[in-house]
Amino acid sequence: MRYSLLGFISCVLAARPFLNEPDTGIDDQLAGFVANDTLPPLDSLVGLPDFQWVGRQHMNTSAYTYYRNGAAGEWSYRNNLEVFARYRLRPRVLRDITNLEATIPTTILGYNFSAPFFISPCARGGYANPDGELGLVKGAAESNILYMPSLYSSKSIEEIYAARPNNSEQVLFQQVYLDGDMNDTQNLFRQIETLGAKAIVMTVDSPGDGIRHRAARYSVGSANSELSLLTWDLYHQLSNMTSLPIIPKGIQTVEDAREAVTQGVKAIFLSNHGGRQVDTSPSSLEVALEIYNEDPEIFKQIEVYADGGVRYGTDVLKLLALGVKAVGLGRPFMYANIYGAEGVARAAEMLKYEVLNDAANLGVPDLKKIGPQYVNWKSADVWGGS
Ligand SMILES: Cc1cc2nc3c(=O)[nH]c(=O)nc-3n(C[C@H](O)[C@H](O)[C@H](O)COP(=O)(O)O)c2cc1C
Ligand SMILES: *[C@@H]1O[C@H](CO)[C@@H](O)[C@H](O)[C@H]1NC(C)=O
Ligand SMILES: *[C@@H]1O[C@H](CO)[C@@H](O)[C@H](O)[C@H]1NC(C)=O
Ligand SMILES: *[C@@H]1O[C@H](CO)[C@@H](O)[C@H](O)[C@H]1NC(C)=O
Ligand SMILES: *[C@@H]1O[C@H](CO)[C@@H](O)[C@H](O)[C@H]1NC(C)=O
Ligand SMILES: *[C@@H]1O[C@H](CO)[C@@H](O)[C@H](O)[C@H]1NC(C)=O
Ligand SMILES: *[C@@H]1O[C@H](CO)[C@@H](O)[C@H](O)[C@H]1NC(C)=O
Repeated sequence: MRYSLLGFISCVLAARPFLNEPDTGIDDQLAGFVANDTLPPLDSLVGLPDFQWVGRQHMNTSAYTYYRNGAAGEWSYRNNLEVFARYRLRPRVLRDITNLEATIPTTILGYNFSAPFFISPCARGGYANPDGELGLVKGAAESNILYMPSLYSSKSIEEIYAARPNNSEQVLFQQVYLDGDMNDTQNLFRQIETLGAKAIVMTVDSPGDGIRHRAARYSVGSANSELSLLTWDLYHQLSNMTSLPIIPKGIQTVEDAREAVTQGVKAIFLSNHGGRQVDTSPSSLEVALEIYNEDPEIFKQIEVYADGGVRYGTDVLKLLALGVKAVGLGRPFMYANIYGAEGVARAAEMLKYEVLNDAANLGVPDLKKIGPQYVNWKSADVWGGS
């Protein structure tokens, strides 16, 4: 009796698995490296989820937990990953895609990059690698993608900017949290300008502490735990203190996207902080869809960036299809940095290859002209056998 009930429960659970690390054979192939505790060679990794697998095997539990965790019951963390599978592609065939590769590079605020994706700001790069963020900044340079260093990095801001291989040539956008003291902020902004960042990314989704149950168990809560004052008034005071554009990161509704346009921002960043801040907040794909449905002009008025749960080429394409200009990834690059710059560059190249080939199979001749018609925006219940 008891066993059959358990059997029934496991069947029900099996019908809707949460695949934090999808089963594509990695455990079978790389078990030997777990047994002898060596880092698998980079060429044995085939996709971005593999870097998380490596992180789980090779980082200590508290360090891994800091990267992996989400807020509360982690429903937003899971939704960020799962949401992409709820919308089916609509591949077109017999299209001339021979010029597609030339259309992969893009501009972000007018700066040239090799791909429409970038490294989102993440604190504490030192948990994956003793060289901290140096691997991220060098890997980004090698693949010519944008990196946004976090203010709460393990390495000092000076060390990070000094690690640019071509020094001032590499474009970086600097993320900030504000401590409420305007003098500190003015000094910080001066330093950011002097170091040569091209934009300031102001995180606006976390005026409160993230309620992170998983992290609390390992005493690795959030890097930013004070209640902080964040208003549009402050945004304007801050804009007065710098010649750099300030990009609000963490927009989660069409109302705030519209308000940002009204307030004169050059770009917004859709994000729920990787599901780490407030649980049941929407994924940026859902926010982009809300903007597309209610005020699609916004995508033309300003640049819109988005992150959260992006792991595959098709995830990038779905966000671009709605009008997003560039897509951020946090955890995949943080885990890839276990291998340093080489791992970060390898992750970027994997994703470029996926974006190119997924777009080809989707029948997109020009990535700049991808549009919402390439996706069926009627949400499919992938778990219900529809
Ligand atoms: C370990 C870690 C640290 C983070 N630190 C910051 C931070 O300092 N500032 C910030 O704006 N966002 C931070 N984030 C959120 C990321 O910028 C980004 O929004 C998120 O990681 C995207 O989701 P993904 O990890 O699924 O790609 C952090 C995320 C992680 C995983
Ligand atoms: C560890 O195991 C892997 C996979 O079996 C093997 O390729 C590698 O050579 C081993 N490394 C060491 C140091 O034993
Ligand atoms: C960006 O690329 C375009 C076209 O390839 C080029 O004309 C332009 O000068 C580049 N801009 C910068 C800032 O390098
Ligand atoms: C885990 O690793 C991090 C980064 O290497 C280190 O700072 C920390 O002390 C380690 N914690 C434990 C419990 O070993
Ligand atoms: C910039 O650095 C990259 C990577 O180190 C290198 O491949 C490239 O040639 C450099 N570019 C210039 C203009 O120095
Ligand atoms: C900020 O600096 C000004 C002058 O540099 C000083 O008068 C003021 O007291 C400072 N404010 C704070 C909060 O430190
Ligand atoms: C910004 O600076 C301008 C010119 O100095 C001033 O008129 C304006 O009031 C300032 N705005 C804010 C919000 O501080």
